[in-house]
Amino acid sequence: MDIFAHRGASRYFPENTLLAFKEAAKIPIYGVELDVHRTKDGVLVVHHDEKINRTSNGKGFIHEMDFAELRSYDFGSWKGEQFAGQQIPTLHEVLDIFRVTHHMINIELKTDVYSYPGLEEDVLQTVLEHDMAERIIYSSFDHEILERMLEKAIPNEVGLLFSKVLINLSEYGQMAGSSTLHVSLIAAKRNAVKKAIELGNRVRAYTVNRIADYDLLEDLGVDAIFTDEPEKMYRHAYEKKY
Ligand code: G3P
Ligand code: MG
Repeated sequence: MDIFAHRGASRYFPENTLLAFKEAAKIPIYGVELDVHRTKDGVLVVHHDEKINRTSNGKGFIHEMDFAELRSYDFGSWKGEQFAGQQIPTLHEVLDIFRVTHHMINIELKTDVYSYPGLEEDVLQTVLEHDMAERIIYSSFDHEILERMLEKAIPNEVGLLFSKVLINLSEYGQMAGSSTLHVSLIAAKRNAVKKAIELGNRVRAYTVNRIADYDLLEDLGVDAIFTDEPEKMYRHAYEKKY
């Protein structure tokens, strides 16, 4: 079963910061997951929430803020004083870290709450500038942006994100143009997902931080997990294998 570092190595480092991604880059896992938003002046930044309130000393929506202002806030201290001074990273900076590693990059397009018109074009452009197109997996809870990504006729794999348990996942995936389903840990244990796996879909589960869940999902035929503790999961996987 493959392992993705969720928002970087986010259990012990501030999520979606260069520190968290540099830690993840040291671990020989399959990939890393990150979330993308866009500032008012058009800069692609890596962050989970639409607002910066939870993860910084600032307040407000990313899409209402210019990059220079966003960069003036501290995105490390909320996690611990030793991380003070961490800035919000750009997508460009995060891709730079992985340019020289083998990791796959799952870019989650955060258009399910605020729509960021044309975000897919901007992200594609950045990926092409880095010459990393074949290492990117796009995902989103907003399946329309994934449909638009697929229309760009690039050979990337697209992961449909689900937060709820849905019946007929497989049929829905076919209709939406992808058989790769990114489901919650709770959903992954349900019959609908078992059926989707049996029908040949690739299923990845988030967010998996317990060893017992790793083992269970592996037995169920889940393809990959997203975890905040990539080092712990890598060690576990290694010990199981050798
Ligand atoms: O892509 C897996 C997972 O990151 C989806 O949920 O809210 O952590 O972005 P969230
Ligand atoms: Mg995410």
